[in-house]
Amino acid sequence: MNGRQTVHYDIPPLANCGITLSTNPKSRVSKRRPAACFPKLQPPARVTVSPISSMQYPHFTPMTRRHALRQTVFYSAALALAGRIPSVEAQSIAPGDHHFLMLGDFGSHGQKPEHTIEPQIEPNAPAGAPFPTTITVKPNWTPQQSAVAAAMQSYTQAHGFSPTGLFLLGDNFYGSFKGGVNCPRWKTGFEDMYPASAFPGPCWAMLGNHDYDEESGLKMAAQLEYAEAHPGTRWMMPSKWYRVDWPVKDPIVTCLILDSNYKNGYLYLTSEEKAKQLKWLKAELAKPRTAPWMICMAHHPIYSNGMHGDNNALIKEWLPLLEQNNVAFYFSGHDHDLQHLEFEGSKTSFVISGGGGAHITNLKKPGRSHFSQSVNGFTHLQVNRQKIIVRHIDTKGMQLYAFSKTPEGKIEVSA
Ligand SMILES: [Fe+2]
Repeated sequence: MNGRQTVHYDIPPLANCGITLSTNPKSRVSKRRPAACFPKLQPPARVTVSPISSMQYPHFTPMTRRHALRQTVFYSAALALAGRIPSVEAQSIAPGDHHFLMLGDFGSHGQKPEHTIEPQIEPNAPAGAPFPTTITVKPNWTPQQSAVAAAMQSYTQAHGFSPTGLFLLGDNFYGSFKGGVNCPRWKTGFEDMYPASAFPGPCWAMLGNHDYDEESGLKMAAQLEYAEAHPGTRWMMPSKWYRVDWPVKDPIVTCLILDSNYKNGYLYLTSEEKAKQLKWLKAELAKPRTAPWMICMAHHPIYSNGMHGDNNALIKEWLPLLEQNNVAFYFSGHDHDLQHLEFEGSKTSFVISGGGGAHITNLKKPGRSHFSQSVNGFTHLQVNRQKIIVRHIDTKGMQLYAFSKTPEGKIEVSA
């Protein structure tokens, strides 16, 4: 058994699978796909379960026979409904491909700062309220950011590749950020934390809720202005939403980077900004494509098994656009965990990488879809024209989970 669990599934044919992928009958997915549309559920033909490491797949425990059967029915049906077959092992890392690392929710200082943490304003004041006079002090530092950053370096060195670039999925800096573009946290929390010697490529960043919630928006503004103030930096945030084509010539992947701070309040997107961004997103998705891969990413998940759950605003505004325009992946952070979710009828894969350095948070729906684990870590994207491989990696540089997807939508998951 060597301490590792193997779960074997005999996948029933699609015609015999009659469950939706949502365990919540009130969820959007279930509403959009009435259960009556599907054939009656049939149990899988065979289930074999051997012991599992609770560290690796904590949501699989306790693995009673009944639990295993129920979970296997769910998982098998999920895969079969999507027409997908799990592979036994992850595919090999090919140095010749394009490699991106991504992480979210990392801006925790990385270690206890020597300076005193500045007072913070209240982040949840109602819309239109005057700037608060109440202040609170929060210790934002955690050592996990440094641990994840170190694992990113050891992982790339161990596998012999240099990342093309980093995607920073928001909540880039928790807490106070006095000094704006010259705040000392730029050096400790970004430039030195993810050094150019290991990560020489661009670092495409997006805004999380904690990037808005300090100092009347000055922290957010500093992130938009930093690259211009510091020529030569790898930090990229030319605007709140922007497009990345990589490589620039004959691109393989197009990334639409969005601002998902939809919560009403004086420190989030305004109504005008939301409308402007939505118009831009529609226009970008409608353009003729030169790259085989279209990806969207933002800080907040559309669907999440984590603490914050599904995002109804994004389900309403963005999800139909992604599905109608064959967006292959939607990457996000915000929940402090690592996830991979697939939903019946959707061509978009949902990946959450929010374990970059903040304290991990509990999962709310640990059993829904393919993978969710409350753990610190990062995500590795290996990209070529035939396939994208997504790997979730922990603070020891070990792979927790992986799956691949072809442009046609075929998915294989690691055992
Ligand atoms: Fe967040």
